[in-house]
Amino acid sequence: MALSRAARVILVGAPGVGKGTQTERMLKKFSELASISSGDLLRKNVRERTPLGIQAEHKMKAGSLVPDTMILRLIINELTNRGWLSDSTIRPYSMYTSSLAMDGEDTVDSVFIPSGLRTSKYQYSESPSASFILDGFPRTAGQARQLDELIPINLVVNISTPTDIIIDRICNRWVHAPSGRVYNTTFNAPKEAGKDDVTGEPLTRRDDDDPEVWKARLKAFKETSQPLLEHYDKKRVLWEVRGNSSDEITPKLLKEFERQFGERD
Ligand SMILES: *[C@@H]1O[C@H](CO)[C@@H](O)[C@H](O)[C@H]1NC(C)=O
Ligand SMILES: *[C@@H]1O[C@H](CO)[C@@H](O)[C@H](O)[C@H]1NC(C)=O
Ligand SMILES: *[C@@H]1O[C@H](CO)[C@@H](O)[C@H](O)[C@H]1NC(C)=O
Repeated sequence: MALSRAARVILVGAPGVGKGTQTERMLKKFSELASISSGDLLRKNVRERTPLGIQAEHKMKAGSLVPDTMILRLIINELTNRGWLSDSTIRPYSMYTSSLAMDGEDTVDSVFIPSGLRTSKYQYSESPSASFILDGFPRTAGQARQLDELIPINLVVNISTPTDIIIDRICNRWVHAPSGRVYNTTFNAPKEAGKDDVTGEPLTRRDDDDPEVWKARLKAFKETSQPLLEHYDKKRVLWEVRGNSSDEITPKLLKEFERQFGERD
């Protein structure tokens, strides 16, 4: 399936709703689509000891959050490296211009000098090959505004699954931690309760699957996601999909992708 224009997509949904699953499935269907994860970019930069990675690591080691400006910078760098974003003064007609109040130079200091902020002009590609699902950022309306000034997201999917269904799902999930084998007590139960089929070792619950932990995460998610979704609703790029399972959601999502980004004749 081919895209006819750039898709710049964000999936929003409660923890456990299956965003990763949907991303994988869309990536398989649309070869032009890439997954860009702020968490992966962060880990990669830390691993490769880039200036940004080193700064971010300092923050994390000090127990602080990595500032939005740094995450945004990681994303800018990634999109620039892929050739989807540029801040050169050469503006091919196929590139669109946006601006961001941030230092355009790729130095670590530039991220931290608010007084030195100046407006950089960015151009982003509308080519179908510049299509991505962005994961992990933005999480707040403020972050969304910053991102929009740089490169506007053009589809935000509000993935909606009833809370009790997600709770059921995570309560039934047990894993064999050493191998990563996942069991589902309703549909894919281990041969012997609580034991891995292959090794006979005990199964555990992932921390994320503790219902109390999940409820706390859901509460935090709701508080930040509502303003985020409202921001995109105002921009007229919000679309909601309902379903009790990933398999129910995928065909609807696929159809919407085709409607919005598919080849038209
Ligand atoms: C997103 O979906 C949730 C869950 O169905 C719903 O409560 C919320 O109102 C939706 N948000 C927006 C902005 O449409
Ligand atoms: C277990 O499998 C069923 C059917 O595929 C699915 O509806 C349910 O969400 C699964 N639960 C987990 C924990 O994966
Ligand atoms: C989804 O789950 C709700 C209960 O939470 C149920 O009322 C509804 O019928 C289910 N939908 C489908 C399509 O199975």
